[in-house]
Amino acid sequence: MSDAIYPVPQEWSANAKIDGARYEALYAEAANDPDSFWRREARRLDWIKPFTKVKNTSFNEADFGIKWFEDGELNVAANCIDRHLAERADEVAIIWEPDSPGAERRITYRELHEEVSRLANALKANGVGKGDRVTIYLPMIPHAAFAMLACARIGAIHSVVFGGFSPDSLGGRIEDCDSKLVITADEGLRGGKRVPLKANVDEALKNCGSVSKVLVVRHTGGTIAMQDGRDIWYDEAIAAASPDCPAEPMNAEDPLFILYTSGSTGKPKGVLHTSGGYLVWASMTHEYVFDYRPGDIFWCAADVGWVTGHTYVVYGALANGATTVMFEGVPNHPDFSRFWQIVDKYQVNIFYGAPTALRALMREGDEWVKKTSRKSLRLLGSVGEPINPEAWEWYYHVVGEERCPIVDTWWQTETGGTMMTPLPGATPLKPGSAAIPMFGVKPQIVDADGKVLDGATDGNLCITDSWPGQMRTVWGDHERFFQTYFTTYPGKYFTGDGCRRDADGYYWITGRVDDVINVSGHRMGTAEIESALVAHAKVAEAAVVGMPHPLKGQGIYAYVTLNAHEEPTEELRRELIQWVRHEIGPIATPDVIQFAPALPKTRSGKIMRRILRKIAEDDIGNLGDISTLADPSVVDHLLEHRQLVA
Ligand code: WTA
Repeated sequence: MSDAIYPVPQEWSANAKIDGARYEALYAEAANDPDSFWRREARRLDWIKPFTKVKNTSFNEADFGIKWFEDGELNVAANCIDRHLAERADEVAIIWEPDSPGAERRITYRELHEEVSRLANALKANGVGKGDRVTIYLPMIPHAAFAMLACARIGAIHSVVFGGFSPDSLGGRIEDCDSKLVITADEGLRGGKRVPLKANVDEALKNCGSVSKVLVVRHTGGTIAMQDGRDIWYDEAIAAASPDCPAEPMNAEDPLFILYTSGSTGKPKGVLHTSGGYLVWASMTHEYVFDYRPGDIFWCAADVGWVTGHTYVVYGALANGATTVMFEGVPNHPDFSRFWQIVDKYQVNIFYGAPTALRALMREGDEWVKKTSRKSLRLLGSVGEPINPEAWEWYYHVVGEERCPIVDTWWQTETGGTMMTPLPGATPLKPGSAAIPMFGVKPQIVDADGKVLDGATDGNLCITDSWPGQMRTVWGDHERFFQTYFTTYPGKYFTGDGCRRDADGYYWITGRVDDVINVSGHRMGTAEIESALVAHAKVAEAAVVGMPHPLKGQGIYAYVTLNAHEEPTEELRRELIQWVRHEIGPIATPDVIQFAPALPKTRSGKIMRRILRKIAEDDIGNLGDISTLADPSVVDHLLEHRQLVA
């Protein structure tokens, strides 16, 4: 933790949408009179049928339920597109920057309307209707936004799967929600490398019966197989479709999308978000957190495969009529200046990125940044993982030239949008702190037994009351939703994060306290990686924990016990690493595999992960009590063979 504190710059406090006093007043209103606060905030959207009820929520088992604006009707796509046409049809909605600099694309709101309407009609023509699921497996190209919005327009539920996931992971996600149709591209491009998206879909669909059609965007022009009767070229489908598609009136609580995310146990969960509350939350947080003004060029560098891309590349930004930048590529291609060149090229005002990218760029030296202007930047944002003070300071001094406040936004797939953050015109900044709660967010820190901790303290982070952007259920498993989030501390939403509150009331997220790890800002369940490892014929048992990693934040440390008579060779180590990449996707590549003849277990057979974590963290002076282990000598072997990563 750093002690530095940066006051709100004069120009910001004088002109900001939300200054310190206004923050206090609005926070109090949202806490004490949510009806009045949210009735007003919800007017930022166009409602087909106005709601009369605002909040109807309970986290208690007896009357558990989460409903917002429950009798209202609206259409999310109409809110993101149609209602802007009167004033800004010819303004740019999406700027697309391709993987390699060159053929960028600007899509006006008028064009967006036509693209989305045609695609919506093409979906209908292929049998997709209200409530049906559509899986989107696309690179960062405008079609990803078209696809999401086309689903929203007709009331279909989209499930975007990150293009870096393997056929197996994709197939599991298609199957879990019974998607009827998949939208993909021939190939993706990342840093000049081709990603075989369509081939992955073909592989995934070998085991999924529900999908009857696949729409394929021609992107790289690479050679792919098209299956007769199933696969359709996207361009042909929309050319044949009418550009006129009325937006389906949706109840506020009708599902908008499913997004799979990792938890501490089992398979990834289908986090379900609904229409009204989610869009109010996305739009409100986009406006206040980023102090968004009409005309601003807004760039969220996240992939639409993650929730950050959903809420800030697409829904929040477009609901507010913004110009949103979509970048297909990576920060180091063709060189380490790329982010800042894009900032200059489009005169980006607000840049929102992940600490992992900043750390990687910081390592390359300041010259890559300094040779660009960046004068257009007004505000910087960070998301996805704790930002270490060193990276924060670099972002602030070198990238933002001490001119741009940094909003360090803490939130989760489950929360729909930002929950805690500094507000640029209201909050002095402390490097590494997500600062203060958003309007309507009631954080609470508890100890392991659920005792509420007041004042400056350290513990587990809960939220005690609902907010409009909250997930509503786990797709197909409402009981799992309740069990996962509301039973650890009854009556409260448990975030899974550890948190410290300092004497000024600032919150500092300290990382996950469950078996979820955060690798380069990507959330991963250790259980998923373990089950991938044990699926290998030579592996008897595996335990995966996080370890500190200088670039990724956390790395993946896997302890593997082989079947009897298998030799722990270097070759097998490499094979297992490839195996996990193949099973889950490259983002799950283990950093370390340590072969262990046995894992430390209690007498009842439970793996003592605490010990495994300490070894992976190189904190071995502090292993704690190991006398309860069935065989304490196991630890000696682990210590002797631990793998330290520089
Ligand atoms: C972590 C991403 C510290 C946290 C939006 C959370 C953060 C998990 C921050 C959710 C932040 C996200 N500071 N930690 N500013 N933002 N996290 O679902 O552990 O991909 O629980 O949502 O990322 O990851 P998810």
